[in-house]
Order: sequence, then C-alpha cells, then structure tokens
Amino acid sequence: MKLNNQWRNHFHIEMAKGLVNDPNGLCCINGEYKIFYQWNPAGCEHKNKHWGLVKTRDFVHYTKPRLVLKPDQPIDKDGCYSGTAVMLDQQLHLFYTGNVKHEDVRIPHQCMAVLDEKDELQFKKALIVGMPNGYTAHFRDPFYFKMKDLHCLLLGIQNADLKGRAVVYTSKDLKQWEFYGEVKTELEDFGYMWECPNLVSFNDADAFIFSPQGLKQEGLRYQNRYQSGYILGHYDFMKNEFIHGDFYELDHGFDFYAPQVFTNENRTMMIAWMGMPDEETSYPTAEDGYLYTLTLPREITKSGNRLLQRPARELNQLRHQILLSKAESQIKEFNFPLSQIGIEIKLELSLQAKCECCFDFNGEELKLIFDPEKELLTLKKADFHYGKDACRFMHIQGKQLQLQMYLDTSVLEIFINDGEAVMSSLFYPLHELKAFKISSDQPFDMPACEIWQLKGII
Ligand code: FRU
Repeated sequence: MKLNNQWRNHFHIEMAKGLVNDPNGLCCINGEYKIFYQWNPAGCEHKNKHWGLVKTRDFVHYTKPRLVLKPDQPIDKDGCYSGTAVMLDQQLHLFYTGNVKHEDVRIPHQCMAVLDEKDELQFKKALIVGMPNGYTAHFRDPFYFKMKDLHCLLLGIQNADLKGRAVVYTSKDLKQWEFYGEVKTELEDFGYMWECPNLVSFNDADAFIFSPQGLKQEGLRYQNRYQSGYILGHYDFMKNEFIHGDFYELDHGFDFYAPQVFTNENRTMMIAWMGMPDEETSYPTAEDGYLYTLTLPREITKSGNRLLQRPARELNQLRHQILLSKAESQIKEFNFPLSQIGIEIKLELSLQAKCECCFDFNGEELKLIFDPEKELLTLKKADFHYGKDACRFMHIQGKQLQLQMYLDTSVLEIFINDGEAVMSSLFYPLHELKAFKISSDQPFDMPACEIWQLKGII
C-alpha cells in the first residue's frame, strides 16, 4: 500500500499503521511514563485489539511503539480490551477485558497479565472474573484502585434494564475476586452503557470519570455520538455510594473519548482517544492504512465543582522558535501568515462584539467564533471531503477569552480560559495552511498573542 503522509501529525501519538483507540494502563514507574493503548496493528477496523506501548520520561522523547498484549489466548482471543496497569510486588500487573465471541455471542472475561519487568513482552495471563448475574455481556474496562488492604476493580457494565452502571470487585490476594456491588449514584437513567470508568481523588473530593453511551442531545449538552465526562463528590467505599453533583463533559470538540486518568507524585494526568466509536463516516487516513491519535497529555486539577485541564507542563519543551509575540490595541483585524504546521498559539482577547479566530487553509477554514452577547463559542470546520460544515457549540461566561491552541497537521486542541474547557478535534484539510486570522465587528484590544513553532515528538 502506498502511504500518503499528507496528514501525519508531528507531536501527537499515532501509529504508522492500524487503528488506535483508548489509552490504557497509564502509569509512571521510576520516572518513566508508560502509555499503553488499544491498537489494531493490522487494519483500520475495530477488531483484533492489542495493547500497544510507548514510553517517555519527558513527553518529548518516546520509545518506538511496540505490541505488548496480544489476543492470543482462549480467554482474550477476540481482543485485549481496555484496562489499567499497576505495580504490585515489583511486578507490573495489567488488568484488561478479554473479549471472546462464540459465533455472535459476546463473552467478556476480566483478565490479569503479569509482566516480567526485564522483558516487557513476557507475561502470564489469567482469567480472574467472569460475568456477574443480572447484567448483560457489556461488561468491561477494569480500573484498578486500592482501598485499605483490598485490591479493587471498577468496571463499566449494562444492567438487565439496559442501563449503564459501574460495579466493583475486590480481592485480598489478586486470585480470588468477589463481586462487591454496584456503585450507587443518582444517575439512574443515564445512557445504556458506561465505558472506561476511572476513580481519582483530589484533596477534598473524588471524581468518577467515565464515557456514557446513549445520551440524547439536550441543548448544547451531548453533541457527539458518545460522551466523556465526570461527576465530582465523595465516594463512600463502605456504602459503595457516590454522592455527587452534576455530570460535566470533559471536552466540547468533535473527537474525544475514553479518557484515562492517573496520579503520579501529586500530579493527576489524563490522556484520551481522539476519535469516536461507531461513526458512520471514517476519516480519510483510513485509505492510507492508519486511523486516529491520542490527545496531548493534560494535567487535571480541581477548582470548585469543576475539573480544570491544562496541557502538561513538559509540552513547553516542544517550543522551538517564537514566531510572534505581540500586543496590539484597538484593531479590527489581525492576519498572520503561517505555512508550517506544528504551532502553539496563546491568545488573550477582551471582547465586546463577535469575533472570529480562523486557521485559513487556502480557503478551507477551521474557525472559532466567539459571541460575547450570547456567551457562545462555536468551533466550525469546513469539511471539504464530505462537502459540509460541522459545528460544536459551548457556553462561555464573560467577555474575556484566553486561548491556548495546539495545531498539528490534522489535530486541533484548544484550551480555553486556563483549562476551564477544552475543544479537541481532528480535521483533514485538502489545502495548505496559509494564515491565522482574527477579526471582530468592533475594534478590540489584543493584550497578548504568542505564536510558537513547535518541534515534533521524537
Ligand atoms: C471504548 C471501548 C472500550 C473497549 C475498547 C475496545 O472506546 O469500546 O469499552 O474496551 O474500546 O477497543
């Protein structure tokens, strides 16, 4: 197959060949971050899922992608699905779902693979949990956590009424696992399946992060096919109950799903899959034999009743050259010619009137439109492949807009107002980048605009 590298990204993790989806088993061991992920190395279909692995110490230099966990046993023959990794007794343990299909009947197995640290391709697999009674076969994505001296697994599941739920299993010795129960929440009727659950603690609160499927759009909420978000509150393990506030989405762009979170030395980080399951139209790189990428690593903090997401601080090391550092006042238009991809833009705008920030690919536009009257932010991509425009919308408060945007060849990640919101999207322009432009109906002050040329990850 002839590979067309037109849309190859520079600083996002993607594979030379095959389909990438959920990040898995994120952890940091002796200063080395391990990023596992779902990978079909043989094609762009959602099947044949392996776990791939890249490692990094600085989020700039990465090891070459390797296949680590293969669906080569009767317990996982139709896919090594998502899960977590943890060091226990000096050995890396991977908890994952072994997907097995007999004809068209799905049988999920929760598995544990213990890796030999000297050789990351050597591991011993075991089936540890079968299907519980009273639920359907949608049962997957074990998230490991420890509660006192108990090993615990939190899993997404579908109940007999076809509602999404999360359940906990516990074990004292990693061999015998017991069904501890269903996590009680106020989300009784909240989609038909909860994928990829995560439980993470901040100083004064716990967050349950998950990817519910089957939510209907309500106003500006739930615009994508499937969602990823969180509830914040307090998880009472003894009662297996989560007292919580509202569900908030983690991202407002087109392509964000199945985030995984991990905490290392007081820092909580998150990586997600840039893609969406079950979309009817595929992206054009599938013709070149590869599909999707992972988001940039993000740092997560809690502020009030929200989680904030900021780009990992290590990403500053990608800054190669400053192209522009400017503060202008009382202008109506700003046009900066740009030809090379791999850009970071930091921008602060104080606006009274409608304003557009636009990446111009010779007529093809990727735009962010801010309407302070309506307190509305719109991300609009002209999709020349499918001949239509597509938009995502979000509410934003106030007249101040602070943006940190990372533009890769086919990825745009926009961090808004110091991490209050993020919009992450894939796009596949047919033309070359020409300029970055800002325009407004009324003169505006631009107190700061920095544009950096970024290096690629190595
Ligand atoms: C989420 C998901 C998980 C599953 C994995 C399979 O995108 O469907 O629930 O484990 O992908 O690749």
